[in-house]
Amino acid sequence: MNTKIWLSSPHMSGNEQSYIKEAFDSNWVAPLGPNVNGFENDLQSYLNEDIHVAALASGTSALHLSLILLGVGHGDEVICQSKTFSASANPIVYQGATPVFVDSERETWNMCPIQLDIAIKDRIAKGNKPKAIVAVHLYGMPYKVDEINNIALKYNIPVVEDSAESLGSTYKGKNCGTFGDFSILSFNGNKIITTSGGGALVTKTQKQKEQAVFLATQARDNAPHYLHSQIGYNYRMSNIVAGIGRGQMTILDSHVAKRRSNHEFYVNAFKNNTKITFLNEPEGYFSNRWLSCILLDSESTREGLRLALEKENIESRPLWKPMHQQPVFKDAPSYLNGVSDELFEKGLCLPSGSNLTDIELNRVVSAINTYFVS
Ligand SMILES: Cc1ncc(COP(=O)(O)O)c(C=O)c1O
Repeated sequence: MNTKIWLSSPHMSGNEQSYIKEAFDSNWVAPLGPNVNGFENDLQSYLNEDIHVAALASGTSALHLSLILLGVGHGDEVICQSKTFSASANPIVYQGATPVFVDSERETWNMCPIQLDIAIKDRIAKGNKPKAIVAVHLYGMPYKVDEINNIALKYNIPVVEDSAESLGSTYKGKNCGTFGDFSILSFNGNKIITTSGGGALVTKTQKQKEQAVFLATQARDNAPHYLHSQIGYNYRMSNIVAGIGRGQMTILDSHVAKRRSNHEFYVNAFKNNTKITFLNEPEGYFSNRWLSCILLDSESTREGLRLALEKENIESRPLWKPMHQQPVFKDAPSYLNGVSDELFEKGLCLPSGSNLTDIELNRVVSAINTYFVS
């Protein structure tokens, strides 16, 4: 059997262990310490904006804290892109609020501004103005930032930018992860850089960062004993994990370049296959191409191809199943136009890691070509 080709596996730079060793040598093993500050500073200077970064245990915890800081609570409604990973929506429910799902448009596969406007108007008419909008840059492709922000401004609703998949992407020359009232990043094992597991909250002010860190460290009031006047969380990143992040930051740009070249490789390889199409970058959009995705002509072609790749020990995965189709969210209000359903039926993510060799990429292409001639 051929060795397994993964969708997106961790890719270390070789620098990570020196940061971890330093943490061991100085006994900064317990939470917080120089690597946490160093990783936050690295992210802050990479994003190159007037922002502040709190390193956390996961992207999900960053989303949760952003909703808490926005005052989302029981009985509130929060708009969320339907086509996404469940982690974008789950924290809405943690807060006792209801997600309201909004469908995608075809140019970026992200939140459709037309449906968003319809949804907000309708929720206001029903007497429940949404408390926040969670918009997601899927697979590294920026959402329509200007359009979404203009609508958010028009109704005065804050945006939580889910940038879990888009560190290294830009929109009109500005970095993803800087567009929301709050933005989140993920360093989960399959992301463009990984800390094994981890995330970050990006805030506009130092005060918001301090509030997030306070909540993320069990909301300990300033006293010699343990004193709490609020419910807190154990959401902070550890100094060991942040050491991996510091090592990963040294190769982020080369990971983006490699993932983009994987995508180009597939585009070239299948340019004469009329059954395969790709998502192009609109003018002004720069995607990190976290995952290379293709659209097939039907659900049966997509599933047939997925199974054919599996037989060759090649991992691939259908595009995210929209949240409005998930059993757990079956009662949530949704504003739909059919786009995310169709993308789910016809879309497949191909192996996309920055550690893929030419031999592996060629194996994927020949397995796909064989499927289409058989
Ligand atoms: C779009 C999106 N949002 C949120 C998350 C959650 O991040 P984490 O796994 O770090 O909690 C992920 C990835 O896992 C994601 O892909």
